[in-house]
Parts: sequence; C-alpha cells; structure tokens
Amino acid sequence: MCRWFDSGPGHSLKNLDYRKYIYGCMSYLKFLIHSSKITHMNHTSIENFIEGIPKAELHLHIEGTFEPELMFEIANRNNIPINYKSVDELKKAYNFNNLQEFLDIYYTGANVLLYVQDFYDLTWAYLTKVHEQNLVHTEIFFDPQTHTDRGISFDTVIQGIHSALEDGKEKLGISSQLIMCFLRHLDEVSAFKTLGLALPYKKWIAAVGLDSSENGNPPSKFERVFAKAREEGFLTVAHAGEEGPAEYIWEAINLLNVSRIDHGNRSLDDDRLMKHLAEHQLPLTLCPLSNLELKVVNSLTDHPLLEMMEAGLMVTLNSDDPAYFCGYINENYTRVAKALDLSKKQITELAKNSFKASLLSQVEKDQMIQKIENYYHNN
Ligand code: ADE
Ligand code: ZN
Repeated sequence: MCRWFDSGPGHSLKNLDYRKYIYGCMSYLKFLIHSSKITHMNHTSIENFIEGIPKAELHLHIEGTFEPELMFEIANRNNIPINYKSVDELKKAYNFNNLQEFLDIYYTGANVLLYVQDFYDLTWAYLTKVHEQNLVHTEIFFDPQTHTDRGISFDTVIQGIHSALEDGKEKLGISSQLIMCFLRHLDEVSAFKTLGLALPYKKWIAAVGLDSSENGNPPSKFERVFAKAREEGFLTVAHAGEEGPAEYIWEAINLLNVSRIDHGNRSLDDDRLMKHLAEHQLPLTLCPLSNLELKVVNSLTDHPLLEMMEAGLMVTLNSDDPAYFCGYINENYTRVAKALDLSKKQITELAKNSFKASLLSQVEKDQMIQKIENYYHNN
C-alpha cells in the first residue's frame, strides 16, 4: 500500500508535529507551483525536468521489479499457485513494518520464476518501463541463491537476465552491468558455492554485492568470499547501514573493499564516517521510497539525502525494489524533490552523480555529464 502522503501511516493528525505538517503543506504548494507549466512560463516544471533528464540507476534488484500482474501471468503459465486470489489482494499485502517483512514476501514472489523466458520477461518489463523514464544506464542486482536453492540452475537465471539486457542495449539504447548479490542471511559456504557457479559467466558480471537481512549479518561474515571474488576480478559493493549500524558501513569499506555503499543511511550516526565518505567520494546509493516503505524513515521530509549532499557526499537516487515500493526511478526523484524542495541544480547534481558513481568508463561518464549539463542549461 503506497503512502502518497509523507507521514507515518500510524500517525493520526493529532500526533503529528504541526509545524512539520504546515511546512510539508507549504513545500507541497511550492512544488505544485513549480510543477505548473502555466505559472512557470517557458520553463520546464520540476516534474518534467526530472522526466527528461538522462539518468542512471545503480541500486535495483531485478526480483524487486516483479509487478503483481506479471507475477500472476507467469504463475498461471507455470501452473504455480499464488497465496493471493487477485492482483489487488496481493498488492494489499504490500504493507511492511521493516526490511524482514518485505523480504518474506519478496522471496515468495520469486518462486514462480522457473524458466529462462521468465527471467527474460521480468528483466525486459523493467527495461521498457524505465526506458519511458529516460533511464540510459542501469546496474542490476540479482540474487542467484533465491533461485538455485529451489532447484533452478544458475545458467537459467543468468541467461534470461543477460539476453534481456542485450536486447535492452540493442533495442532501447540502455546500457547495463550485472551485480551478483550474496544473501547475507545464508552462510559463507553457500556464498562460496554461488561464487563458484558464477565463474564461467565472469564476463557478464561486473561486481558482487551483499543484500537481504542486515541486522545480525555483518559484512565481516563474508570477508573471505569477497576477497576471493576480488581475486577473480570482480568489483565489490554491499548493502550497509540500511537498518544496520554505522559499524557495518566501516566493515564494508575496510573488510570488503567496496566501490559503493548501498543505502548507507546510518552514516549520519558517525561523524568520522561522514568525513571519510566525503573525503574519498565513496558513493552511497540511496533509495528514498524504499526507506519510506520499510520505515527506515518516517517521512520523506526526514530523508537524509539533503543533509548528505550538504556534507559533500557522493549520493545517488535509486528505486531498490520498484514494484514493491510504489515507484521507479522518476517517482523516487519526484517525490523526494517535492519533500525536500530540491532545485533543478540539485537534481542535475544527482543525475550527474548517477554516472560518476557508475561502473562506466571515464570517457562514457564524461559524455553523459556533458549531456546533463547541456540539458540543465536548456531547461
Ligand atoms: N533485497 C532486496 N531489497 C533489499 C533491501 N532493500 N535491503 C536488503 N536486501 C534487499
Ligand atoms: Zn537494495
């Protein structure tokens, strides 16, 4: 259930901080004025500005793009029962109090994926959707253990995803990279086995990552498997500081040698870490709507994005699991822009960051940054 009003669902108006409420209303009004094509003569509204700006996405779980309609279609053709009678009933179950409640539903949804065609259709649906949103580059997580643990081969999973990505490049002009995540609630042995399965497909996988239930599963649990992955030539990233403490972010940096931190909200708890992130321009892949739906923040007006930008951090905006969290890349930009009253300049900086923090070559990054600057000057 999507929360279009940015306060906690359990909060009655009586419980709300009135100043925040009034401030929220005022910034919403300002946003409406900004957005209105009539009042903003000849200037692109913020919403249209966001729609048109070229963007990259760096934090996207392909299993998290599984829209209920497609889930039912694939379940029907594969003769797999779903515990919900209809798309609407399933959507009603999307009401999470924390990361674990979401993960339980997310892993169940993935159970209907059996064949190469299913993984292809899942990936293709995401690509066509974000193509409409001017996304030109995407770095996609996949969770092989979610599938291999139920008897689906690694080859089936990656062939389906990879061929859709190839078509995405050819037919939609979207470039991409694949990042294979280890499920951190499983053990090191399972992660090593998964790394072994990935080796024949090295040329299709740019990096390894770490996702799933964070608390109680620190990055240190996977230090050795990440060392082996780096030895094999993979880059590394890791979810850290989404629900877990700042200490997990330090571990991801110091023990896993990550090129990016996924989420990293809890960096704000540690001044020394904030300084380190700013100094090294180590990117954070923030996911505002995910944070709202999983109650990492109570409201988008409380989101740490702006504070991080002001502290000089290299932050990017992403959708995480768009089918579950009420929005793809543009909805993340638009809703956070509205809540935090972001300017076109700040949106431009975020779009540039999405390429700076990507795994693209420096030449490709420079080309995209130039395109974004031209777009800014013309809009
Ligand atoms: N897997 C899919 N989405 C995730 C998230 N937000 N955090 C951790 N693991 C995930
Ligand atoms: Zn994620």
